[in-house]
Amino acid sequence: MPCPSTSDELVFFVNGRKVIARNVDPEVTLLSFLRKNLRLTGTKYACGRGGCGACTVMVSRHDPASREIRHFSITACLVPVCSLHGAAVTTVEGVGSINTRLHPVQERIAKSHGTQCGFCTPGMVMSMYTLLRNHPEPSEEQLMEALQGNLCRCTGYRPILASGRTFSKESYGCQQKGTGLCCLDQGENDSSSPSRKSDICTELFAKEEFLPLDPTQDLIFPPELSRMAENSDERTLTFHGERVTWISPGTLKDLLELKAKHPEAPLILGNTSLGPAMKSQGHFHPILLSPARISELSLVSKTSDGLTIGAGCSLAQVKDILAERVSQLPEENAQTYRALLKHLKSLAGQQIRNMASLGGHIISRHCYSDLNPILAVGNTTLNLISKEGKRQIPLNQHFLAGLASADLKPEEILESVHIPHSQKWEFVSAFRQAQCQQNALPDVSAGMRVRFKEGTNTIEELSIVYGGVGAATISAHKSCQQLVGRCWNELLLDEACRLVLDEVSLPGSAPGGRVEFKRTLIISFLFKFYLGVLQELKKLVKLFSVPDSHRYPEISEQFLSALEDFPVTIPRGVQTYQSVDSHQPLRDPVGRPIMHVSGLKHATGEAMFCDDLPMVDKELFMALVTSTRAHAKIISIDLSEALEVPGVVDVITAKDIPGTNGAEDDKLLAVDEVLCVGQIICAVVAETDVQAKRATEKVKITYEDLEPIIFTIEDAIKHNSFLCPEKKLEQGNIEEAFERVDQIVEGEVHVGGQEHFYMETQRALVIPKTEDRELDIYVSTQDPAHVQKTVSSTLGIPINRITCHVKRVGGGFGGKVGRPAVFGAIAAVGTFKTGHPIRLVLDREDDMLITGGRHPLFGKYKVGFMNSGRIKALDIECYLNGGCTLDDSEQVTEFLILKLENAYKIRNLRFRGRACMTNLPSNTAFRGFGFPQGTLVTESCITAVAAKCGLPPEKIREKNMYKTVDKTIYKQAFNPETLIRCWNECLDKSSFHSRRKQVEEFNKKNYWKKKGIAIIPMKFSVGFAATSYHQAAALVHIYTDGSVLVTHGGNELGQGIHTKMLQVASRELQIPMSYMHICETSTATVPNTIATAASIGSDVNGRAVQNACQILLKRLEPIIKKSPEGTWEDWIEAAFEQRISLSATGYFRGYKAFMDWEKGEGDPFPYYVYGAACSEVEIDCLTGAHKKIRTDIVMDACCSLNPAIDIGQIEGAFIQGMGLYTTEELKYSPEGVLYSRGPDEYKIPTSTDVPEEFNVSLLPSTQTPLTIYSSKGLGESGMFLGSSVFFAIADAVAAVRRERDTAEDFTARSPATPEQVRMACVDRFTEMIPRDDPKTFKPWCIPIA
Ligand SMILES: Cc1cc2nc3c(=O)[nH]c(=O)nc-3n(C[C@H](O)[C@H](O)[C@H](O)COP(=O)(O)OP(=O)(O)OC[C@H]3O[C@@H](n4cnc5c(N)ncnc54)[C@H](O)[C@@H]3O)c2cc1C
Ligand code: FES
Ligand code: FES
Repeated sequence: MPCPSTSDELVFFVNGRKVIARNVDPEVTLLSFLRKNLRLTGTKYACGRGGCGACTVMVSRHDPASREIRHFSITACLVPVCSLHGAAVTTVEGVGSINTRLHPVQERIAKSHGTQCGFCTPGMVMSMYTLLRNHPEPSEEQLMEALQGNLCRCTGYRPILASGRTFSKESYGCQQKGTGLCCLDQGENDSSSPSRKSDICTELFAKEEFLPLDPTQDLIFPPELSRMAENSDERTLTFHGERVTWISPGTLKDLLELKAKHPEAPLILGNTSLGPAMKSQGHFHPILLSPARISELSLVSKTSDGLTIGAGCSLAQVKDILAERVSQLPEENAQTYRALLKHLKSLAGQQIRNMASLGGHIISRHCYSDLNPILAVGNTTLNLISKEGKRQIPLNQHFLAGLASADLKPEEILESVHIPHSQKWEFVSAFRQAQCQQNALPDVSAGMRVRFKEGTNTIEELSIVYGGVGAATISAHKSCQQLVGRCWNELLLDEACRLVLDEVSLPGSAPGGRVEFKRTLIISFLFKFYLGVLQELKKLVKLFSVPDSHRYPEISEQFLSALEDFPVTIPRGVQTYQSVDSHQPLRDPVGRPIMHVSGLKHATGEAMFCDDLPMVDKELFMALVTSTRAHAKIISIDLSEALEVPGVVDVITAKDIPGTNGAEDDKLLAVDEVLCVGQIICAVVAETDVQAKRATEKVKITYEDLEPIIFTIEDAIKHNSFLCPEKKLEQGNIEEAFERVDQIVEGEVHVGGQEHFYMETQRALVIPKTEDRELDIYVSTQDPAHVQKTVSSTLGIPINRITCHVKRVGGGFGGKVGRPAVFGAIAAVGTFKTGHPIRLVLDREDDMLITGGRHPLFGKYKVGFMNSGRIKALDIECYLNGGCTLDDSEQVTEFLILKLENAYKIRNLRFRGRACMTNLPSNTAFRGFGFPQGTLVTESCITAVAAKCGLPPEKIREKNMYKTVDKTIYKQAFNPETLIRCWNECLDKSSFHSRRKQVEEFNKKNYWKKKGIAIIPMKFSVGFAATSYHQAAALVHIYTDGSVLVTHGGNELGQGIHTKMLQVASRELQIPMSYMHICETSTATVPNTIATAASIGSDVNGRAVQNACQILLKRLEPIIKKSPEGTWEDWIEAAFEQRISLSATGYFRGYKAFMDWEKGEGDPFPYYVYGAACSEVEIDCLTGAHKKIRTDIVMDACCSLNPAIDIGQIEGAFIQGMGLYTTEELKYSPEGVLYSRGPDEYKIPTSTDVPEEFNVSLLPSTQTPLTIYSSKGLGESGMFLGSSVFFAIADAVAAVRRERDTAEDFTARSPATPEQVRMACVDRFTEMIPRDDPKTFKPWCIPIA
């Protein structure tokens, strides 16, 4: 067998072009190769762990056996480039381009408004494109499956799915499902007068304009690769890298010899297990054996007793094989296959299933494995092979526990897996519960099998195996043994639960936490299995007229719902808005649903983000070294080892900063002390990103821990550790009022923090210029002026030497207001010291570790009310976990207090708030700025009052809402008319009252599933509470060809600000948008800008653009008057001839806003946005899972500048809010280390989390003269409406607790994760589990809210 010392050539195709890579490094991923070597930057990096889909590309391979071409999507960040020998890769650039030809997928996602920031879009396009290559008319189920592994943080998925649905063969008309009627025909405008009907639109795009799908236009599979596959070369290929050698044998024999020679070398298949371990856990393998070319590992054989599947088959192939077998076999024989299929549908996303192999899955033995528990109970056999021969071992508890005697020998490999058929009187089931329904690792998974003595309910064999409840997959073997011979009845169930809880015991400190939840799931699953089997048994008994059938317990009708899983359905819905006046000229785009101006570029990958900028001459990379201690003195920093790492150029410490090192209490680089884990201490500069990252691990820092170390709000209060003084507002006489009320309730609310999870992580590129110490900084920020200013003070050079450029930002949500300045400034110090351009791109783990997010909140309330539900007095005290520095915490506290009253007029109020200082990364601005957390306390109060009064919460809300013109708590005049309209329309559009009755009916009939419904009103104040923040400028140039360049102070974050600005300019200059262009936001064109935040970006910048255009038009007026029939081009030419300036600065002096905290009065906000949302959910009381059935949002957008963009903002914010309140959970260790540092551990909503029916309607306009064309800023407000899902879940839980006679009010905790829900639904199982005394163990994680 040859083993050359030189590398072979790696041959593959990318977008139809042949790539021959010599000396390719096995450690290089396809993503890195595409972006750096081929400069194809359409494929994005967002997590590097296969969890987000931003890097999705299509791989095509010729299968010589079937002679077919297989196309499948993969995540390029996990695929080693060496694995692609003989493959064709298609990236978004190969699919279509705006310069040549767009692919319909690209056109439709853009025109359906499925792109906002556009960072996820290439990945979405590639997932859909691959789907269409395999299924040109996909079913909706296939579409959902294809997009399962793609995350989007902006859109809320609805428009992306809508674009995909246009390819689906299933009907796509009006989306009012199942009614057969169009929404407009069936009283959709019930509440509006019929005359308004014609003004209401429900179409945001015209699908008739779409290009048809023409598969003949797709790239063909390169014939050369087909030939390569047909004439398979059996030579062993070897690729040598700097540290790792990749060996790909061509025959099984060679593979086995190599395995014998390198027994420690892993087999690399999908790399979905090895890859993340090498990246994040420091695993290192100098030799990797790739069996990808060994056909024996992909063989499948069907026998009369089972199915043998090659270990090299991907999980997607396994799914297809099983589906086929299930359709062929009688039900009784296909039980194990069905159970596996069920989990294969929800295991990871489609891309991972395409990559991951069955063998890799089994051998990885992840404790959370979805498949191993089922394979184990299904009596699976592993067929092993080595140079010495073949043998078989069972996939049993010993194998799963990794016992050497039951395991593979180092020189053996797994060739195939034999899964036997199930038999008559045998039942197999699978269960899993994760943080969300799809694309999430399970908290607990289980496989269960029982075989009965034929014709009886006597157990002959029982097998129960769990994943997620220990370091390995665990079998409840002893318990099962003890239960053999017993009858299948309630007594057995009870005993089984007790035995299993005893055998599968989980200590309080178990890694992963959620211990009591997991214990409960262990037996809840058992109960589901018991019920399911009982139901099947009863069917069999009936079928075979078994004697003694009376011995089989009856199943109450009410219990049957326990057996149903929530289906995955494609969301439907209607988006309603008011059309523009019929007299508005067609050319005038204001008020129309215009596509995002970068939409098509997002979809083709041509939209450039910061890290897509080509490498510049002499460019170096930077990686950050962060503190591993929460509060400590830095004793020493030893850089010597790091400086010796090949490629390292320098290490930047605080000593290298020529100017100011941040603020005294918020340093850019730590000096003597660190205040949190993740604080930046120094930065390595190296020739490549990999070298820089490697060297960070070689920096040796010694610390001496300091006291106190504070993480929780509770501890901060104890230590009197606060970042700023208390903020307080009071009205009426609260103490007196409490004395006169019928009832008083006190309670607590905990709201967890939230990670921004913008898809584009923080990044900056600093380029020094040759003269006058000038610097260009390209940065992903919401506030370039702040970056510019910070770099100036850090380097000690005037602001005018620094130009900050922002083309577009891949999502910000507040997380790119303050922090980018830190990264820009540190990179600038690197540039200053080395003289080189510096690129700094945070990986997802570092981004999540270093940057803070939304402030966690702890709220206490005391509410006094009459038995009628009228609230007379409300006292709320809120504490925010601000982290270790002030950042925006003071303003967040102020906003929270100012907005806490929400929609309610309560005469006697006291609101107090404080930001706690803790040893966690500093929390910062986040969409809604305190409102989403604080107002959850207010609304929880309402729910508590409702429970005490025995009234539904909506009655209490209505009773206490503002009714007439009045004054807010800060004594600003307030007219609630629009708020009330939103509330009433939402009640009406959602048919709230009739659905409330239906929910009650459902709940009466179902014990283990409950529905809940809630409607929430919202009064959201827009803008900053300071006048100086309300200003904006714009610069508009008209060139001699008539084209117009618009620049303004806002940044494009995905919210469509540039699109809106061009709409404004188009209306003002009375020329079509096609004349206009926005190049970038730059501090050189518009100086001293305000952060694009607080929902008013388009508002204030729109006024500035308007002003500039009006100035220009005024100058052109005499020329136009003179030649009214002339064209725009003629007028511009004439203006130039007449020496009229064609450039103008526009300025908007903004709104006045002030707040006097001493007096507790002010006019802090320019205007309000009103809205209401109604959500209905169904919960599974046994698992805590929930399904969002329907959401209706009514939002007052006044005269929307662009209804498509505004609806997109509302939907996106709503889904992000839903994430905050239901799935997004930050986990900190007792030492203050953030565990949840990627998409695996931190679950933002996926496409399957969107409500099944999702309707949004913009309330027909009411004029607000203050704003540009009476539009409103809608960037943030939708976030809070996500709480309607939280309260619907709370409503369902309350129904459970009422039925079970447990106290209806309980401490509200957000997010309402499956854990929270399950543990609140107390029942015999929650009572059965052992509880630990918190004093007796150290928990795996600590609650910080
Ligand atoms: C984003 C993401 C989400 C995921 N979600 C889930 C989930 O929801 N549920 C779940 O259960 N799992 C999940 N997984 C885990 C996934 O199922 C496994 O990583 C995968 O099945 C491993 O297969 P692979 O081919 O990629 O293995 P590789 O990473 O290539 O190899 C893994 C190990 O298996 C060994 N190996 C592979 N094949 C053989 C063989 N034939 N003989 C001997 N040894 C072999 C290798 O030596 C190596 O040690 C997820 C993974 C990712 C990345
Ligand atoms: S999946 Fe590759 S970057 Fe996230
Ligand atoms: S548009 Fe999807 S992440 Fe921004």
